[in-house]
Amino acid sequence: MKAKSPGGRNAAEPSESSAAFPIETVRASFPALNRAPQFTFFDNAAGAQVPQVVIDAVNHHLLECNVQRGGRYAKSIAVDETIARARQSVADLVNARSANEIAFGMNATSFIRLMSLAIGRTLGKRDQIVVTDMDHEANIATWMDLEKSGAKIVWWKVRDGGNLHVGDLIPLVSPSTRLVACTLTSNAIGSIVDVAAAAKIAHAHGAEVFLDGVHYGPHGLIDVQAFDCDYLVCSGYKIFAPHMGFLWGRRELLAKLPTFREDFIPDEPPGKIEAGTFVYENVAGMDAAVRYLESLGKGMAEDKDAGQALEGRRGALEKAFKVIRSYEEMLSLEMLTACRDCDARIYGMAKENGTGERVPTLCFNLPNISPSRVTEELARRNIGVRDGHMYSPRLMRRLGLLAESGAVRASLVHYNTLAEIREFGSALAEIRKSC
Ligand SMILES: Cc1ncc(COP(=O)(O)O)c(C=O)c1O
Repeated sequence: MKAKSPGGRNAAEPSESSAAFPIETVRASFPALNRAPQFTFFDNAAGAQVPQVVIDAVNHHLLECNVQRGGRYAKSIAVDETIARARQSVADLVNARSANEIAFGMNATSFIRLMSLAIGRTLGKRDQIVVTDMDHEANIATWMDLEKSGAKIVWWKVRDGGNLHVGDLIPLVSPSTRLVACTLTSNAIGSIVDVAAAAKIAHAHGAEVFLDGVHYGPHGLIDVQAFDCDYLVCSGYKIFAPHMGFLWGRRELLAKLPTFREDFIPDEPPGKIEAGTFVYENVAGMDAAVRYLESLGKGMAEDKDAGQALEGRRGALEKAFKVIRSYEEMLSLEMLTACRDCDARIYGMAKENGTGERVPTLCFNLPNISPSRVTEELARRNIGVRDGHMYSPRLMRRLGLLAESGAVRASLVHYNTLAEIREFGSALAEIRKSC
């Protein structure tokens, strides 16, 4: 029996908005998907595929201007221009007030480390740092390391329903709180956190908010102004770009943070938080990934809202994520049904009417079959998922799982399809029967 969606529709039937989603065009934009048509890639939370425009941008950079920035010759000037363009693109992607609020680097983890080292030097009477047990360990352990510098760690804990509730944050924040560090979305169980409400509570006490936007980035519109956060970190390689990371911070806060920098680096963002040379070709790819999302939004506007102008690039990005969210809600619903049909235990937000508060990232286990066995069996059937603790060992323990073995995670993005989910469901049913 297929479950009914909140609107009474059968979960297998595409909704009007999902039917309108240009899935064929989207998939045609990602060459890696077309090169391996038999392979179902449900491990996107570990890094997504890239569209052709990203490959072209990386190629162009390596062929035409693979030189160091800051020189006086044309190729070097072209690198400076690429970086400036990418900064503006990422500023548009996150709704930053200025491109100088965007710093480029290797990955999210190293940015969290860099920021924690600087914030650790500013602890005074405000010495409490709120962390959560739902986050990726990079956004927990790094802050906990500041206990050596006198920080006191306060835990905001996930509720049984599989999400953080802002009501639980209220008693944890006080005039002694320096920072609330939390994720926008769990990379293990897909729950979306009400970070704007969390920021309101933190700011009412003069504390700052550091958001891990890594897992939310490919699924929803980031808006640092609406979230009213102070810092936000993302991995470009989860948002359809090559391996790289970026950090956004409020300009005035970045300006006064005592980050380590060599004397010859100006004490100004973004340079003061960019340690050495980063991978320029991947930054060029990040710029192209934003353009991919922008053109997806523009295409949808042309199809659906003929004549209705989008407000610039940000408008196109808003549109893109609106249609992505709607399509992904349907994927979530179908995944929940597929897992449930095989008697899988789904961890976290498992309700069919809760797809608006989650992304299509699910952790589950099949009865009496180890997660590694399930993953191996799925791999034999050409389906790529992952098992283990998902770098959220505390969350695994909170869910009653052993951190070592954890659960199976399937993580989908907007290029995945209902047909893939059906194959996945049939494969799970087979494994359930045969193992
Ligand atoms: C939610 C979350 N935070 C942080 C990280 C670490 O990101 P990076 O690999 O860019 O350091 C990940 C990686 O999977 C993640 O999912």
